[in-house]
Amino acid sequence: MSNITFYSGEQFPLEMHKVRIVQKLNLPKVEDRLTAMEEAGFNTFLLKNENVFMDMLTDSGVNAMSDRQQAAMMQADDSYAGSATFTRLENKLEEIFGTKYFLPTHQGRASENIISQVLVKPNTIVPMNYHFTTSKAHITLNGGRVEEVFTDEALNLYSDAPFKGNMDIDKLNTLIEKEGAEKIAYVRMEAGTNLIGGQPFSLANLKEVRQVCDANDLLLVLDASLLADNLHFIKTREAAYKEASIRDITREITDLADITYFSARKLGNARGGAICTNNEEMYMAMREYITLYEGFLTYGGMSVREMEAIAVGLEETMDEEMINQGPEFIAFMTEELQKRGVPVITPAGGLGCHIDARAFVPHIEQADYPAGALAAAIYIASGARGMERGTMSEQRNEDGSELLANMELVRMAMPRRVFTLSQVKYVVDRIAWLYDNRELIEGIEFVEEPNVLRFFFGRLQAKSDWPERLAAKFREDFGDSL
Ligand code: F0G
Repeated sequence: MSNITFYSGEQFPLEMHKVRIVQKLNLPKVEDRLTAMEEAGFNTFLLKNENVFMDMLTDSGVNAMSDRQQAAMMQADDSYAGSATFTRLENKLEEIFGTKYFLPTHQGRASENIISQVLVKPNTIVPMNYHFTTSKAHITLNGGRVEEVFTDEALNLYSDAPFKGNMDIDKLNTLIEKEGAEKIAYVRMEAGTNLIGGQPFSLANLKEVRQVCDANDLLLVLDASLLADNLHFIKTREAAYKEASIRDITREITDLADITYFSARKLGNARGGAICTNNEEMYMAMREYITLYEGFLTYGGMSVREMEAIAVGLEETMDEEMINQGPEFIAFMTEELQKRGVPVITPAGGLGCHIDARAFVPHIEQADYPAGALAAAIYIASGARGMERGTMSEQRNEDGSELLANMELVRMAMPRRVFTLSQVKYVVDRIAWLYDNRELIEGIEFVEEPNVLRFFFGRLQAKSDWPERLAAKFREDFGDSL
């Protein structure tokens, strides 16, 4: 928690900013929430935002911008080629990451497409601390295979291990020995590991990964999309860096990577993407793909206004009081839910608060998508939308059978500096009610199932009339309340 001490002895996050522009929210009645969920095919991605009270689907592209970011957007240079905006962002990236070459992309997965097209050959392997959906999809599309090399702590939902995003060095060495270094396309480390609850890696671990890469002549690719949270955790959890500045920690991290890429929808608090490197050969190889898939080299599919905002956003990310806002709100929500008995991932990570759906609704089989059903139920109970991060987010095996996820999570993302503490308390209250009525929640099944990234547009239905019964119980318990 923040280093502010309160007279009362309580501890809670304190907003280190004030609100200057607001957006009105709509909290529909529970009956309307039920209808909206049915119309959305029990997929929170398909809800219309006008029916959503707290949009906790993601922290991607929905973080609050600062006055300085908005001001910088006004000076954007629209020229197709040679834009001054590009130079400003390039310089900022060089200053912060120490990287000479910058390739702009329209978002994180576009960077992954280009990196995978250049580095992943059929039958190669990409070891990583944990996969992300889009990273895995691009590697697989190019004929590669993902090997997850996480530590024994990573999948332990209730833990006090500070760095569950670490890579297991022994397993990495064993994998390289078994498969041969020539089969490894590159090693990928993801900051603030998304799918296991926004869990960080330590700098000590990243250094060890680098040593293994050096010993085997392998490239190290860093996914820095969730770097801001990871920086906060290194500063607050890794003793050796307690006194280090965020800027110095950042530089130590990026100096260890051959390629750093990110989604600027997360890092930089705007919208876009980037690939940064000091490796000229890699840069030249990837450059061609930018003009093919993204846009000219000085904007790469991004709006120049967003590029200006990213440059300022990156600078602001070097401020501990700015990047602590996300993790401290998440820690607050996690602790408040824990106090009410709700099973949540610990320690609290970055990105959002993660609810353990298997423990919340243990009566729902994994093939009936417990996390998907819980995400739908949370919306019906609260008007807040989170995201399924479990079996629904996986792709079926080649034989058509379900690939059961390691974890069944509902992620309640915490867009940075967007919600007030009372809104967080509201959603905690409704989830606590839902937990006390959890036996009402049952499974869901696909009625329309896309082959790739099915969780984005797949449509499902409830396997019984449980949503109606849940809404009726809400009405019974809450009277006229929204
Ligand atoms: N890498 C990580 C670690 C991510 O979390 C994301 C996006 C991407 C890459 C892809 O970036 O969306 O700009 O194309 N995560 C979003 C999320 C979608 O909601 O977690 P993108």
